[in-house]
Amino acid sequence: MALESAERTRHLTPSATLAIDARAKTMKAEGLDVVGFGAGEPDFDTPEHIKAAAMGALDAGFTKYTPSSGIPELRAAISEKLKADNGLSYEPSQIIVTCGAKHACFNAILAAINPGDEVLIPAPYWLSYPEMVRVAGGEPIIVPTSAENGYKLTPELFREYMSPLTKMVILNTPGNPTGTVYSENELAALAEVAIDEEIYILSDEIYEKLVYEGAKHASLASFSKEVYNLTFTVNGFSKPYAMTGWRLGYVAAPAHLAKAIDSTQSHTTSHPTSFAQKGALAAYKGPQDCVAEMKKEYDKRRRRFCDLLALIPKLSFVKPTGAFYILANISKTGHSSTEFAEKLLEKERVAVVPGKAFGDDQTVRLSYATSIEQIEEGARRLAKFCK
Ligand SMILES: Cc1ncc(COP(=O)(O)O)c(C=O)c1O
Repeated sequence: MALESAERTRHLTPSATLAIDARAKTMKAEGLDVVGFGAGEPDFDTPEHIKAAAMGALDAGFTKYTPSSGIPELRAAISEKLKADNGLSYEPSQIIVTCGAKHACFNAILAAINPGDEVLIPAPYWLSYPEMVRVAGGEPIIVPTSAENGYKLTPELFREYMSPLTKMVILNTPGNPTGTVYSENELAALAEVAIDEEIYILSDEIYEKLVYEGAKHASLASFSKEVYNLTFTVNGFSKPYAMTGWRLGYVAAPAHLAKAIDSTQSHTTSHPTSFAQKGALAAYKGPQDCVAEMKKEYDKRRRRFCDLLALIPKLSFVKPTGAFYILANISKTGHSSTEFAEKLLEKERVAVVPGKAFGDDQTVRLSYATSIEQIEEGARRLAKFCK
């Protein structure tokens, strides 16, 4: 009999979002007319000047190992960006460039969590957080939030679910899959609890550039020295610059934690791809109008999609003000989220992600990182299906 895989891997499930996206892409490749609302990635191409920088780096032979935390000029550019955009003071030495924001989160969790430690994760959550905590030997503690309060963690809920074993809370604003954006005051109230109880905060800010209707992104670690000392700030290039396949993100943390992450990374991935880092440098140093243009387009799609979904009586949703997702409540259809997603794909050829993957079986996630035409066609099919 074959030996089993290690204990830490046995309860892991493959990413549902990647799986549904792969299925929709396979159906499309077979010639089927699928409308894809499953993808968690921009449908835009990476801006030309970023691609040119990476190609230039390749041509120049920039194809060897780099320092494990990333090339110095990129870490310096990230440090400047965090200061200018987010009011955050991180020295380049406190910044580790990683293979995507996902890897940045994982690195932070590995650096902070001992076996048995508890990590609070407000639900609906980005599906990788609990699995990462488990791999690190920690215990994910899921904190349910509700549509009524905009899917936000409150200080009261924070305290209710906390225990002496709580080591970290994960906050993701703007949020996937909810599109929720926390206000500065709301974050400050949560920071107070974390400071009182000495709990680390993983602040995942990957969607910071995608905020709408006057919503403002705030970076927790900028509030005070006390919260700064507890926070891992995660960000990256995938969503704002349409660079998902490049695998580039970063984590910034207090010096001793950054050092721990650097050591871990130096023995695992070594560093992110050399010439891709040159692309990221161009992303931060180059013109930013590409980001504004993509955001404008997402906003147009968001408003159109919300208008169309509001016409479907069996669906309800909290209007998102961030990221590029709408979380629709499907409980009136009588289906579980998995049944709903499977039947919708089978009957109407529309791909959505079942909320079960995000810790909420009453919802499905619809990504509007697709064209207005696809949104209109998909909404038409959704309305037909819900009837
Ligand atoms: C909340 C959140 N954090 C992190 C990531 C990972 O981004 P990256 O592609 O940079 O690894 C995603 C991607 O979907 C996300 O939604």
